[in-house]
Amino acid sequence: EKAGYEHFMLKEIHEQPTSIQNTFAGKLSELEGTVTLDELYLERDEIKRLKRVTIIACGTSWNAGILGKYLFEKLAGLHTDVETASEFRYSNPVLCGEELTIAITQSGETADTLAAVRSSSSYGCRSIAITNVVGSTITRESDSVLYTRSGPEIGVAATKTFTAQLVALYMLAIHLGRIRGVVSANEAKDLIVGMKRLPGQIQKILNKKEMIKECAAQFADKRDCFFIGRYLNYPVALEGALKLKEISYIHAEGYAAGELKHGPLALITDETPVVAIATRGHTYEKILSNIKEVKARNATVIAVADDDDTEIDKYVDIVLRVPSSHELLAPVLSSVVLQLLSYYTALAKDCSIDKPRNLAKSVTVE
Ligand code: M6R
Repeated sequence: EKAGYEHFMLKEIHEQPTSIQNTFAGKLSELEGTVTLDELYLERDEIKRLKRVTIIACGTSWNAGILGKYLFEKLAGLHTDVETASEFRYSNPVLCGEELTIAITQSGETADTLAAVRSSSSYGCRSIAITNVVGSTITRESDSVLYTRSGPEIGVAATKTFTAQLVALYMLAIHLGRIRGVVSANEAKDLIVGMKRLPGQIQKILNKKEMIKECAAQFADKRDCFFIGRYLNYPVALEGALKLKEISYIHAEGYAAGELKHGPLALITDETPVVAIATRGHTYEKILSNIKEVKARNATVIAVADDDDTEIDKYVDIVLRVPSSHELLAPVLSSVVLQLLSYYTALAKDCSIDKPRNLAKSVTVE
C-alpha cells in the first residue's frame, strides 16, 4: 500500500500535486476571476453582512488557520481570530452571531475542535468545516462543509492534508473577497492562475529532493532548531517546527522572525540551526535583517528561497529553492520543502516516522 515508498509520509508528500489538484478541481474560473463554492450554501447578502471570522483548530490545522487569518484579512477585509480549540472551549468568547466560524480539522474527529464548534453554534454563529474525511463527525456538527480532497492520510504527521487545507483557505478567501468587493477580478485571476501552477511547481521540488536530503544530514545530531518567518511565512515556520519535533524528536520552535530579539535570540549559538523562510514578498528585506541577527550569533542558516534569488546566497549557509510564485501562494511550496526536511532528518535518526512516539492520528479525547 505504500506504493514502493519506504513510509506513508513520503508517499503522502509525493501525492501533493494530485491532492491539491483534486481539492480545487472544478471550482476555479480563470476567465472570470471567481471561485465557485456552492457547497457552502452561503447567500451573497449573508457574506456581505459578515463582521468577523473565527477559525478553530488544533495542531497543524491551527497552523493552516494562521495563514487563513492573513488571507481573509487581505482578500476579504474580514477581521479574523484563530483559536486553539482546547482554549476556546474554556474561555468566554464574545460572539454575537454575525461571525462565521471555520473549523479546520483533517480527521473531522478532534474532540476539542468538535466541542468548540458546538459552543460557537450555541451563540448562533454560522459554521463551515474544512475537513478531509467524508461523513466525519464535524460534517454533522457544522452548517456546511468544504472538503479537502487529499485521500486518506495514514502517516501521523499531516502533510498532504495541510497543503490542501491551505488551498481550501485560498479558495474561501477569494470567494468571500470577490462577493464583498475587496479583491478585484484581476487580482483573483492572478491567484487562480498561480493556484493552477502549484501542482507542477510541487513536482519540481519533489524531483530535486536529494538536495533537501543532504541538508537534513546537518540536523540529525542537533538538539534544538529554530524556524523563522514573517507574515505568510510565519505559519510556514510554525508548521516546519511542528513537523520536525513530531517525527525527529528534535526540539524545534517556530517564531515570527521579528520576535527573535524579544527572547529567543538568547538561545542562538553555533549549535542551533535556523531555518529561515525567505521567499520574496513585502517582508523579504525584514527577514534578511533577521537572518543577519542570527548569523551574528554564529547560527548555521538554511534559507528557503525563490529559485532565481541569488542575493540570499550572500547571507546564508544553505539555500533550498522553490519555484517563484505569487507571494500569497509561496507558503504551499515552502511547506513541501520543510516536510521533506523533517522526513529526511527523522530518517537519518532512524525514527518511527509514520507512528511517532506518544502520538495518535486523531485525538478523539480531550
Ligand atoms: O484531524 P485534525 O486536523 O483535527 O488534527 C489536529 C492535530 O491533532 C494534528 O494536526 C496534529 O497536530 C498532527 N499530527 C500534526 O502533524
